[in-house]
Amino acid sequence: MISIQLSRKVTGSDCHIFLIEKHTNLSKINLSKEETTYVKKSIDKNIDTISTDGKLIVVLSKKSSADATNEDLRRKGSGIVSYLNEQKCAAVAIINETGTKEAGLSFAEGLALGAYQFIKYKKEKDKEATKLKTVTIIDETISKETIDELNVVIDAVYKVRNLVNEPVNHLNAPKLAKEFEKMGKEAGFRTEIFDRKKIESLRMGGLLSVNQGSIDPPRFTIMEWKPKNAKNKKPIILVGKGVVYDTGGLSLKPTQLSMDYMKTDMAGAATVAGIMYVAAKTKLPLHLVALAPSTDNRLSGNAFAPGDIITMYDGTTVEMLNSDAEGRMILADALSYAKKYDPQLVIDMATLTGAAAAAIGKEGIVYMSTAPKNVTNELEESGEEKHERLVRFPLWDEYGDYIKSDIADMKNVGGKNAGAITAGKFLEKFTSYPWIHLDIAGVAFLHGADGYKGKNATAFGLRLIYNFLQKQVKNAGKQ
Ligand code: BES
Ligand code: MN
Ligand code: ZN
Repeated sequence: MISIQLSRKVTGSDCHIFLIEKHTNLSKINLSKEETTYVKKSIDKNIDTISTDGKLIVVLSKKSSADATNEDLRRKGSGIVSYLNEQKCAAVAIINETGTKEAGLSFAEGLALGAYQFIKYKKEKDKEATKLKTVTIIDETISKETIDELNVVIDAVYKVRNLVNEPVNHLNAPKLAKEFEKMGKEAGFRTEIFDRKKIESLRMGGLLSVNQGSIDPPRFTIMEWKPKNAKNKKPIILVGKGVVYDTGGLSLKPTQLSMDYMKTDMAGAATVAGIMYVAAKTKLPLHLVALAPSTDNRLSGNAFAPGDIITMYDGTTVEMLNSDAEGRMILADALSYAKKYDPQLVIDMATLTGAAAAAIGKEGIVYMSTAPKNVTNELEESGEEKHERLVRFPLWDEYGDYIKSDIADMKNVGGKNAGAITAGKFLEKFTSYPWIHLDIAGVAFLHGADGYKGKNATAFGLRLIYNFLQKQVKNAGKQ
């Protein structure tokens, strides 16, 4: 991991990055006369990343909002990763001369998140590994707490990305649950893992039916963070889809650009575990519970078959007409299980539908909600602040008709149109509390590099929900 540090003054760092604004007085930077002329000329030409002998100068662009300016800085931070690698910088100092307090933080965040690598399986991993170890922000105004928190978030994003990038032959459901337990031990939250026997005794029919074709047993992991100073009386519950591999089952997926990336179908579960990790490490004063149902979805002689009628954990019967709509089956049981906590709010995260990805691509999360307006407003605000934005889809009654079954209480698919919504509508039937559903299918995994989000696993949604939870702490204080 790359660690971010704070310092009052520049010490012996290998590489120096100056953050400036167009009008910043260049005499603040130790440049020769020639360099000054060169930098001035470059600024006039609107070049925003200027390198002179051993120094890099990044010019901040003031955007239409503070959020947009911060996002530009994160992108610029990740943009210098290859420069730092070329220069073989192990330590870098960021000298913020912009007068904007957050500039150094956002830049460092983008840099650290953009420097992520997943190369553990490469023979020559040492050669390919980035040399960068520490990023020092030179800024008198930033507190140590802020830096500590940023490090925890970066650490958690790395952990989530590692889990999502890990293929199923190295990470099946039991191993994933063990990883969550490890994260709990490290951060200080409690974990409890239900094995097959326990899941059978609870009659979690949704989870068991998806697991039927698998050789590996399912797991249902409960993570809990309950600090003494929790501001909320009823817990906030996070639910994550933990399908460690999705073949589609008997409704088999095609390989290319479909099944070939389905090791990532546990991104929701990994992300909620990552959020628990941040909450516990930063001692967030909120009572939180995370539920992660987990299995692979495979075909075999005994796999569940389209047409099967399945009795879910809450007794609802589902006519399962497509075994590739498996995420909602396992989430439904977790959402029903959540009722026993009498939760204040439940948020689920799931790589649930290709339809969500098709609708808005990799730029945001498709969400649906039954929570009060002030809650969804805060969610959307959090999205803007962290640039993990959301688009709301409706849960109109009419969509409920799409999943009516002739012979069971409902069916698990809704037809050709409105696929993200019918999935949401299905889940809604298993809720009885304020609820937010985040469909992260479009954002959890990228096929090409995209700034600090990187290529492959992104952990998109972690920074969003952590920010949202922090707002809930402030709100509780107001009541
Ligand atoms: N895991 C997939 C959704 C997915 C698609 C995630 C692309 C990430 C990228 C999910 O289990 C699935 O297969 N959904 C089906 C639902 C359909 C059968 C109703 C889909 O979207 O095609
Ligand atoms: Mn599927
Ligand atoms: Zn799936």
